Amino acid sequence: MASAIVELRSDTFTMPGPGMRRAMAEAVCGDDMVGEDPTVNALEARMADLLGKEAAVFACSGSQSNQMAVWSHCRSGDELLIEETGHIANYEGGGPAVLSGVSCRKIRGERGGLNTALLNAALRPPNQHFSPTRLVCLENSTNIGGGATYVLEQLKAIRTWADEKQLLVHIDGARLFNACIARGYSAREVAAQADTVSICFSKGLGCPMGSVLVGSRETISRARRARKVFGGALRQAGFPAAACLYALDHHINRLAEDHANARFFAEQIAQIPGVKIAPHEVETNLVFFEIDSHIGPGAAIAAALKERGINLYAIAPQRLRACFHLDVDRAGAERAVVGLREVVQSGACVAGIHAGGNY
Ligand SMILES: Cc1ncc(COP(=O)(O)O)c(C=O)c1O
Repeated sequence: MASAIVELRSDTFTMPGPGMRRAMAEAVCGDDMVGEDPTVNALEARMADLLGKEAAVFACSGSQSNQMAVWSHCRSGDELLIEETGHIANYEGGGPAVLSGVSCRKIRGERGGLNTALLNAALRPPNQHFSPTRLVCLENSTNIGGGATYVLEQLKAIRTWADEKQLLVHIDGARLFNACIARGYSAREVAAQADTVSICFSKGLGCPMGSVLVGSRETISRARRARKVFGGALRQAGFPAAACLYALDHHINRLAEDHANARFFAEQIAQIPGVKIAPHEVETNLVFFEIDSHIGPGAAIAAALKERGINLYAIAPQRLRACFHLDVDRAGAERAVVGLREVVQSGACVAGIHAGGNY
């Protein structure tokens, strides 16, 4: 049966299903702060192995594990390099400055991605006038960049360049498994190009919370201290960790369905006059598209869709984002196409502008 709402705002809206709930209810727990939660320990060991790193630490959220990485790699006064739309620099509450005294040098890239030429142009030489550059932060797959993924060769080139420049590399892999499924590479191959990688479990993997940061034993021991300092050290965290273990077993390969639904949605809405989108650019589960201004502002389109039971985000005056995940099936994607077509053709949003609009 179709659910009442087609929830396309984000994959963070996913709800745990019966199997995941059972796994959480049956989790064996202990006090993680003293390293005695067997389920957290199992998750950390499994993630370290999966990504080919010495150690891992469980964190509350993707933002927390990213900021633990920044804190672990940098000293106060350092600078990190990041693509200008990167989550770490834009959507984590100013975390690098607040928590680590680190500034972000933002670089305009392509669809959220960087390459060695762009990095090289942005890197400043050691000089007392400049903040020392310590870290490169990459996102794979990208969020605001449109769900784009790095080719493995690009990551290898960045790793080589960073080694030459004596810089560290962190990959924000909030949606790393989406990138792996789309590109056909392993999480381990990607992680080999970075010093640390953060993974989110509360997005496409469908868990209620949780993130893991992987890296060398020494770095992860610093990150563990950062977690404590940030107030994120955990106690009986085996309950959410059990959900993460469940997701590793059941929710990775199925990400391909989300990508297929996203591509389907993109191809269908490309046929609606006034909607601008390049369907071939949809690589993973995120679909960004533009609406011609004569149709109405993005926020009015989103409001009209909401009345039809379809939720998505207007992220800029004419730009909308739809995110596909395990709680949206093909029928949901079809409903979203029909709803958008009706809204665009009805003229309701133009009327909204004349009435003052809501943007
Ligand atoms: C690319 C990226 N990194 C990090 C995060 C942060 O995750 P959280 O919301 O768990 O802090 C997000 C969240 O959307 C994201 O898209």
